[in-house]
Amino acid sequence: MEVIVAKKSGFCFGVERAVNKVYEQIGKKGNIYTYGQITHNEQVVRDLAEKGVKVIEDRDALSRVTEGTIIIRAHGVERIIYEMIERQGLECVDATCPFVKRIHRIVQRESGAGCRIVIAGNPRHPEVEGIMGWCSTEPIVVETAEEAETCALFQEEKICLVSQTTFNYNKFEDIVEIFRGRYYNISIVNTICSATEERQAEAREIAASVDAMIVIGGKHSSNTRKLYEICSGECPYTYYIQTLDDLHLELPKSVRLVGITAGASTPSNIIEEVQNYVRINF
Ligand code: F3S
Repeated sequence: MEVIVAKKSGFCFGVERAVNKVYEQIGKKGNIYTYGQITHNEQVVRDLAEKGVKVIEDRDALSRVTEGTIIIRAHGVERIIYEMIERQGLECVDATCPFVKRIHRIVQRESGAGCRIVIAGNPRHPEVEGIMGWCSTEPIVVETAEEAETCALFQEEKICLVSQTTFNYNKFEDIVEIFRGRYYNISIVNTICSATEERQAEAREIAASVDAMIVIGGKHSSNTRKLYEICSGECPYTYYIQTLDDLHLELPKSVRLVGITAGASTPSNIIEEVQNYVRINF
């Protein structure tokens, strides 16, 4: 079988960098903790757990750690987490994605100058919580155009609008337009990361040109689900699997070309395994 693997599949730059940083720490002295799961991929999390890496879920758990290294994941965290790590005498390995770090710096600087920060994003997402934690004025989060219409800010307030890195570009544009119409003292910084959009565009293109498409990613990964939706819209034989074990391809004989893409939390070894299997066995 001929197979095309999307170039932009699997880990994005920031997650790959963060996962590598965790593996670099293994074997060094002391306990290793990640603040939250480093990626939503079950296999990676299990492998790290087997190698002794523990996951700290929240501030409460962090406050009980007395020794070791805390690794901050790509999503980043609130400023207070760095302060706690320092106060408790722990080592810190900061794997915050540089694109997220840039947002922290912007909101820190702008709120420090008295600006009100508005974040276009999901208020319950850890990345947004982290960004909020770098604001010295009270930030607000808007997720929809309706929220942008109804949020009540003072006309004379200086506003700085940023976005969660994975926010949908069209939704961001709608929110920008509403804010521009309502407030005059506003600066807008588009901080959306192109990794997600590029991955989706490539998946769509491949799915449209192959006979069958395989989408690899975690059950609970929303970006994988989105990839699956896009691909199944283009290709009727689209399969959603977590690992090679889930792959039960029932393909018509006419199938000659299979495409593969993967969500942002899928490591490259799983993609390779699936690719090799399909190439050799069909
Ligand atoms: Fe990934 Fe960093 Fe973009 S974590 S999605 S490369 S902001």
